[in-house]
Amino acid sequence: RKTPQGDFMRPATRTRMSSHSKKTNGVGVQVEETRICVVMVGLPARGKSLIAQKVVRYLDWLSIKAKCFNVGSYRRTATPQPAASFFDFSNTEGERLRKAAAEAAVNDMCHWFRSPGHLIAVLDATNSTKSRRRWIKERYDSEGIETLFVESKCDDEELIMANIMEVKTTSPDYVGQDPEAAAKDFRERIKMYERVYETLDEDEADMTYCKIIDVGRQVIINRIQDYLQSRVVYYLMNLHIKPRSIWISRHGESEYNVSGQIGGDANLSPRGAQYAKLLPGLVAKSAGDRPLTVWTSTLKRTAQTACHLPYEKLSWKALDELDSGVCDGMTYGQIEKEYPQDFAARDEDKYNYRYLGGESYRDVVIRLEPIIMELERSENILIVTHQAVLRCIYAYFMGVSQEQSPWMEVPLHCLIKLTPRAYKTYEERMSADVPAVSTWREKGSKAEHAQTPGPSARPSPMIPAMSK
Ligand code: F6P
Repeated sequence: RKTPQGDFMRPATRTRMSSHSKKTNGVGVQVEETRICVVMVGLPARGKSLIAQKVVRYLDWLSIKAKCFNVGSYRRTATPQPAASFFDFSNTEGERLRKAAAEAAVNDMCHWFRSPGHLIAVLDATNSTKSRRRWIKERYDSEGIETLFVESKCDDEELIMANIMEVKTTSPDYVGQDPEAAAKDFRERIKMYERVYETLDEDEADMTYCKIIDVGRQVIINRIQDYLQSRVVYYLMNLHIKPRSIWISRHGESEYNVSGQIGGDANLSPRGAQYAKLLPGLVAKSAGDRPLTVWTSTLKRTAQTACHLPYEKLSWKALDELDSGVCDGMTYGQIEKEYPQDFAARDEDKYNYRYLGGESYRDVVIRLEPIIMELERSENILIVTHQAVLRCIYAYFMGVSQEQSPWMEVPLHCLIKLTPRAYKTYEERMSADVPAVSTWREKGSKAEHAQTPGPSARPSPMIPAMSK
């Protein structure tokens, strides 16, 4: 079973460059020298920033280098907290400053695109008039950058209200202000934009665009030209921006966790079974009476953990734990002893390291893509899964880098609630207070599973260092 490091450490994907300058990115996707600017369009409070952030995180997660340029942040350097009248289109000084902010963002983006591998950027602004959009298109055309306009058009009062509430409490434009005054001012601002707002229509038939109406009730697409554009549009078609949360938990402590073995299909330990009994209470406390669907893997320990939950359940093969190939059933100590070079190679580049006959974290991300797509289409979901899979899902929502995500500490017997919002995803952790072993091993540390004395002895880690 001993294999030289070269055999064991096979990169999940390779980057090739032919004389025709065709490239593969990290996920093995063939991309030409395409660079795309996704240009957001829409009135304030239509979820544009949320969509923009999500697109960037999704692409980054798939190793497609992406960045969001928020025109509001550029504008804030000159006018940190302007009143609604600043956005009145007859206010010439306001108009000048807003155009300057847009120009600065576009210039920075063009500069960013000059670095190799920088493929997709998002221009997050209202871009609410045809003349502004024409200017943007011509500017990018001259740089050889494609434009994909993405409009969020929505008249759903409930959703607009939810966004107003969100913005008044979290937007840097209103930090420190009275929430009611902020909401009133924000409504005024929306009115200013409504006076000049022009939706994407047949006048712009030469442009590539995707118009999302009422959070996905209807989607109109126009002139989608290549693979990367269609991939972004496919993702957008699955998105909704309704308020919801996602809960994730590892399975309860398993017999393998106790013995320090990895992989396998072991039963829960008695403490794991105790967590399963407490989980419904923990979930109810956090989710209230919201309807939920529970997703598990096909392995016994997740089904056993979810067995007392009074919700509809679905089991997914794609949620099974990272396949550790020939090392399945071994302890880290045994792996270090039998395959010392490979053990070190995994520490060196854990994200790309693929077990012989098994998987790497990169492989897991690729097989999780349909899960992410389905999650995006869904509302409140509780996922009971495994350490490596949970790290990958968490990394998608929280924007954790590939270097950090495989090393995140995700304790057993802890429920994590993630709530995606316009400016960031909020996280809450709830410990069940049932002791369990720790299966976390620090990079470069000895190959041992530490025994965790119990949650009261150690505060639930929020892993702040892990978030970008
Ligand atoms: O130890 C529990 C476990 O889920 C194993 O089954 C799996 O191989 C491992 O965690 C993944 O974590 P890491 O990538 O840190 O080894």
